[in-house]
Amino acid sequence: MRRAADPQEEQAMPVKTLRKPKPPPAFTGERADGASIAALHRQAEDCERCDLYKHATQVVFGEGPPHAPVVLVGEQPGDREDELGRPFVGPAGRLLDECLREAGVDRSLCYVTNAVKHFKFEQRGKRRLHSRPNAGEIQRCAWWLAAEIELLEPKLIVALGATALYALMGRSIGLTKYRGHLLKTMNGTPLLVTVHPSYLLRIRDRDEAQAARQAFVVDLARMQSFLPPE
Ligand code: URA
Repeated sequence: MRRAADPQEEQAMPVKTLRKPKPPPAFTGERADGASIAALHRQAEDCERCDLYKHATQVVFGEGPPHAPVVLVGEQPGDREDELGRPFVGPAGRLLDECLREAGVDRSLCYVTNAVKHFKFEQRGKRRLHSRPNAGEIQRCAWWLAAEIELLEPKLIVALGATALYALMGRSIGLTKYRGHLLKTMNGTPLLVTVHPSYLLRIRDRDEAQAARQAFVVDLARMQSFLPPE
């Protein structure tokens, strides 16, 4: 005959081994859908959105920490950047590094990229002379810049010069008028407007060059409040 059920026995719950909850995975910059700067970079290597890929050595994508609070945007890679495949490693990059240091900003905390990812140049004998990207090239490449910014979600974007400003605002606005100002991008991210370091390299007059460099350092120092304290 079946034993009458003991109500206490019936209520006894199966013993569960409680596991410690797993710590959250370290942030690698990869989103749940697999999108990451590294994946974007790989995609950009096959970019044919405009013709600039035809003559450039390689795509020069942005680089920096995947959670960088500040994104610096230049114009396009130069000769050296094209050879090495890294942004701002030539003369303009060295000047940028010096000025960032003087402004008390650690470049390694920033993500550095360009509005246009291929070097545009004019061949003069053995030399490759920088040539300005046109509006169509900037607009086509803005797709990559927007994708980088969407992934990074920076607290601040710094436009270095008119090409970056055009790419980020989607229209021509006066660099001279807004230089040193904090604007907002189309998506509402604070945007600091300043000159391109190559502009400083082109100034012949020593005093003028010194004053322009000082003003650039003052602009860059505004980045400090968007970076973690040291
Ligand atoms: N000028 C730019 O705008 N970007 C670079 O990477 C180098 C020079």
